[in-house]
Amino acid sequence: MDKFVVKGGNRLHGDIYVSGAKNAAVAIIPAVILSDEPCTLENVPDISDVSIGLKILREMGAKVEMVDKTTFTIDATHLMNSEVPYDMARKMRASYYFLGACLGKFNKAMVSMPGGCPLGDRPIDMHLKAFETLGAKVGIVNGVVNVETDHLYGGHIYFDKVSVGATMNAILAAARADGLTIIENAAREPHIVDLANFLNSMGADIMGAGTDVIKIRGVKYLRGTTYSIVPDQIEAGTYMIAAAATHGDVMIRNVIPKHLESITAKLIKIGVNVEEFDDAVRVWTSRPLVKTNIKTSPHPGFPTDMQPQIATLLTLVDGPSLVTETIWDSRFAYVEELRRMGANITIDGKVAIIEGTGSLKGAPVKACDLRAGAALIIAGLAAEGVTEIEDIHHIERGYENMDGKLRGIGADIEKRYFPEENAAVKSS
Ligand code: UD1
Repeated sequence: MDKFVVKGGNRLHGDIYVSGAKNAAVAIIPAVILSDEPCTLENVPDISDVSIGLKILREMGAKVEMVDKTTFTIDATHLMNSEVPYDMARKMRASYYFLGACLGKFNKAMVSMPGGCPLGDRPIDMHLKAFETLGAKVGIVNGVVNVETDHLYGGHIYFDKVSVGATMNAILAAARADGLTIIENAAREPHIVDLANFLNSMGADIMGAGTDVIKIRGVKYLRGTTYSIVPDQIEAGTYMIAAAATHGDVMIRNVIPKHLESITAKLIKIGVNVEEFDDAVRVWTSRPLVKTNIKTSPHPGFPTDMQPQIATLLTLVDGPSLVTETIWDSRFAYVEELRRMGANITIDGKVAIIEGTGSLKGAPVKACDLRAGAALIIAGLAAEGVTEIEDIHHIERGYENMDGKLRGIGADIEKRYFPEENAAVKSS
């Protein structure tokens, strides 16, 4: 399997550019199905989850043309098929957005239960409940979800828990439904707002995205649009932490500083300097870093998708720091790998107790999921010696050219290819 080999110790320095947001792109790509005309998407990140989403669209009969590396024109107007090929849906969690999009357009959808990062139990009961509220019948047979109705009506959806995916799927299904849909206790992440902005740019009538009450008045026709995907908040936050962990000085460009506020606030508490510009943040250190406590929560709280990266930073400062994970059951799998690099972390249920040791040592480690992989790269950049990171396909699901971008700001990181091993794994 391919590996990243990181030689630690270089201070990161210079400008790095953030790509379009993965979690917006993986919803907006299926959302194109809802349009009655071709659409052009700009600032599309070059990551494997996006390739899978585009491949699914092609297999379903859409015409997808690459205009340049980050721009795609998609014509899904002649698409008649509302079934997502089983093998591809299994490869990414976000394939569940094809449920909402196909239901909204064709009144039916068939998608296998999603794959994605192993973060513990990842139910989709709230997505299905939302579809039922809009009048759909839901069935699950042999791991394939089937939703169907003669007519979709607006409805009043109240989510017991804040869910990004369920909120997005409810928006997708309701955009063309007959009448008014109200979503209460909606998620407020920047990618929710981005999906609503995309649909509104096609003529949808969605109000309140970014708050916990979203109102959607269904429309009969959605026109084509050209839309630029929002910058990736988590990619930006990851590079902010990489800059801090290496005591570097990095200008992170193509960001929306407002989306980074919870990350910026914690970094400032740790003693990192952060200066905000219109579409950039400069991150650097000028004094010893200090411990802090972190608790993940839905937006605008501290994102769970930044938890492994900031925990890694906290291993490098004088401890103890407490990191509490409130969203996912299995988001501490990376801790075992950090321990191999000398980190002193104890897990007590949802809490990681980090005794900062001030340094880490290079070691062979495995990326057990996407953000864990990013955290191990940060650990490798800050560690003494060489860190070899396996299973980097997880990282490539969500970070565009991470090694190349980091090399551009002075990191000693290299991707080693092992084509024979890859072939053996693929055929097994
Ligand atoms: C999305 C992100 C993921 C991020 C997460 C939380 C994408 C593709 N992925 O995942 O990177 O970590 O938001 O910010 O955007 N839940 C239920 N029933 C449901 C749905 C969710 O109980 O039907 C629970 C989950 O188990 C979890 C919590 O709600 O404990 C939040 O999950 P959710 O926000 O839905 O995460 P995803 O949309 O899957």
